[in-house]
Amino acid sequence: MSHTLLQMGPLLPAVQAALDEAHDVHRLWEADDADALVASIGADCAGVVTDGGRGVSNAILEQLPKAGIVAVFGVGVDAVDLDYCKGRGITVSNTPDVLSDDVADLGVGLAIAVSRRMVVADRYAREGRWAREGGLPLTTRMKGKKAGIYGMGSIGRALAKRLAGFEMDIAYCNRSERADSPHRFVAALEDLAREVDFLFVTASATPGSIGSVNATVLDALGPEGWLVNVSRGTLVDEPALITALQEKRIAGAGLDVFADEPNIPAAFFPLDNVVLQPHVASGTHETRAAMGQLVLDNVAAHFAKKDLPTRVV
Ligand code: 8YV
Repeated sequence: MSHTLLQMGPLLPAVQAALDEAHDVHRLWEADDADALVASIGADCAGVVTDGGRGVSNAILEQLPKAGIVAVFGVGVDAVDLDYCKGRGITVSNTPDVLSDDVADLGVGLAIAVSRRMVVADRYAREGRWAREGGLPLTTRMKGKKAGIYGMGSIGRALAKRLAGFEMDIAYCNRSERADSPHRFVAALEDLAREVDFLFVTASATPGSIGSVNATVLDALGPEGWLVNVSRGTLVDEPALITALQEKRIAGAGLDVFADEPNIPAAFFPLDNVVLQPHVASGTHETRAAMGQLVLDNVAAHFAKKDLPTRVV
């Protein structure tokens, strides 16, 4: 049966086609008057399809009294008020696991890119400076160093597998110790930061984790320590990170995520001890197709009154 759905942002063409085929889908981001669109479909709207960045506001959900599902294209559901949805009996689904390998790959890529100064070296090579000025200074090896993983969920575990290939000594910080992890648990993030060379942020954004990578943690990581964030920019105190990079109080950072996307603070741009990516960690054809399929499967299961493949609340 076809249902009226509100879609907050674009999806892959194949996913969009399948959703349009099954339901009466209204695209908010394309509407000339978004408020008028919500008002016109509000009474009939049975669900919302969105992505991790856009989520959906409670102000919009208030206008959708019959909404039964918010299906998120992404693992992070921090842009959706889960307590509010729970209170209203609105199901929320996400797309975990299928993206973990690609996000972990990008985390490793960022760690190598920043610590081996690959972006700086690329620029140097393109500018013809090798022939004119000679080789670049030596960099830092990743193999055998200490890695800290903040957030030992599916992405953290995928990352740990890869870092083991670099013969790194791996420890992690998590809300609680994981019986299924062979790695050493460190309860306090500051302690983890103090003992590692590379700190990887893979935790989800919750009230307990937002802002947790603060000036104290960055100082604990120290001038020889590298930060990689493939989770959410909000976990890091961004002004404190900028200061730490400017003053070389940490060695460098590889960042795929920012506090106010898509706006990256301009203060990062002149710094050559940071590698920046515009939130692309899950952005491969393969992973995005799998995420899209999971959105479709969750929506279909919801309307068929079956168990959802990946329900959050
Ligand atoms: C996506 C993400 O880029 O899964 C997440 O939480 O942040 C990313 O995989 C995003 O949700 C798609 O816009």
